[in-house]
Amino acid sequence: MVDLGAQYAQLIARRVREAHVYSEIVAHDVTPEELRARRPAGLILSGGPASVYADAAPQVDPGLFQLGVPVLGICYGHQLMAQALGGEVAATGQREYGGTSLSIDDRGPGVLLQDLPATDTVWMSHGDAVTRAPEGFRVTAATDRIPIAAMEDPPRGLYAVQFHPEVSHTRHGQDVLKRFLYDGCDLLPDWTPTNIIEDQVARVRAQVGDAHALCALSGGVDSAVAALLVHRAIGDRLTCVFVDHGLNREGEPDQVEETFGRHFRVPLVHVKAADRFLGRLGGVVDPELKRKAIGEEFIRVFEEVARDLADARFLVQGTLYPDVIESGSKTAANIKSHHNVGGLPEDMTFELVEPLRDLFKDEVRAVGVELGLPEEIVRRQPFPGPGLAVRIVGEVTVENLAKVRGADAVVREEIKRAGFDRSTWQAFCVLLADVQSVGVMGDGRTYENPVIVRAVTSEDAMTADWARLPDDVLDRISSRIVREVPGVNRVAYDITSKPPGTIEWE
Ligand code: XMP
Repeated sequence: MVDLGAQYAQLIARRVREAHVYSEIVAHDVTPEELRARRPAGLILSGGPASVYADAAPQVDPGLFQLGVPVLGICYGHQLMAQALGGEVAATGQREYGGTSLSIDDRGPGVLLQDLPATDTVWMSHGDAVTRAPEGFRVTAATDRIPIAAMEDPPRGLYAVQFHPEVSHTRHGQDVLKRFLYDGCDLLPDWTPTNIIEDQVARVRAQVGDAHALCALSGGVDSAVAALLVHRAIGDRLTCVFVDHGLNREGEPDQVEETFGRHFRVPLVHVKAADRFLGRLGGVVDPELKRKAIGEEFIRVFEEVARDLADARFLVQGTLYPDVIESGSKTAANIKSHHNVGGLPEDMTFELVEPLRDLFKDEVRAVGVELGLPEEIVRRQPFPGPGLAVRIVGEVTVENLAKVRGADAVVREEIKRAGFDRSTWQAFCVLLADVQSVGVMGDGRTYENPVIVRAVTSEDAMTADWARLPDDVLDRISSRIVREVPGVNRVAYDITSKPPGTIEWE
């Protein structure tokens, strides 16, 4: 997938993978030689915000059309293909945004559109339009406003659509992509969790050989799946380290122990280090200082364990494909320290094993399911590395941890019971440890802390909206927290989206 600045670049790559075909994203200035080395079975030119005839418009090397592999142009990619091969693109004044009715040409739908009815709804977002198709192309669909909404030249393996097949508003969009992949490129749908596992297991074996590896488990899905994959590859030569910093949610340390130690029988070092972390956090209220203290202590503990396992040369990390794309390089995953397990030491001499670096989050989950990981872990909501420490506005103490942990458990339980655990990205509590408000309980006056309930919907945590939870769910959460969590007498619901807010409070 050649990225021409599309808002939906990752989405296109994901949709291709949902059709069980492996896909990668490359920059638009990729050369034909670089591409040839990757041996693609097909190319997709994405959409993009520019006008193809503008000076600064991203272009592709015309050699891309001569590689002998089928090409699908989408939106801007459609226009780019038209322009590059001798057609015409112009600002016709016929802009289309949103749901648009597409009519299949009387001569038939061609290869790409064969699963579409004669008229169908597609999602458009363009100002310019192709006004003349290049020679050899046949127009296969039009809209009321543009005569060339789709065109193709199957003998040359060239296909193009003005609409966005990758977005869910295009009713048969996935069918269009499948026709390109299965019919246009002759591909088989064999990118499945089972094959991913086999492939990665073989690669890990080749990389690690007879050596030993370490993996820091965080309790989250990525490190869990990475650990199980590597365990399948090298067995007990993998040792997992779970540093229990005492900042986890209720039941998590036990669950890690149960799942990895007892169920999968992965060699597991469970370091109970809550006291050490609490000691470091005494008197610290600034969020970044909390992160720093936790990160440093984590490194220290991890190093101590690693020293005892001196023959471990490899370190397993759950780096995902979006992290790799974000860092702009296929060779070095420069993960934001923010999202690291707790900031692993930079000067460690481990070689990294990253069995998930080709995968999107939903693929990691599917692989996790296939490996037999329990639903609670596979579906677990993201949880910050510094844990509950950044959900206490104020000092991290045993008492404050108990309050935020208790309230968090209620929120998660009620969200799950009401069936919102899949539709919410995260749902949790923040304790305002330095604020007290007056309340009445029974006959007595209370003067205790408030908690903020935060529940958001999101695709990728870059943006988020507050979840419209039904009143009765919020009501149950509120009354249970005040009743069941000592030291908390007030509950508020955070109705800030991101931006301008962030998901976490710290
Ligand atoms: P914000 O608060 O920036 O969070 O909107 C975006 C996503 O990142 C998670 N998050 C963290 N994850 N270490 C992590 O591993 C951190 O220090 C950290 N801070 C925020 C947050 O839970 C959300 O999913």
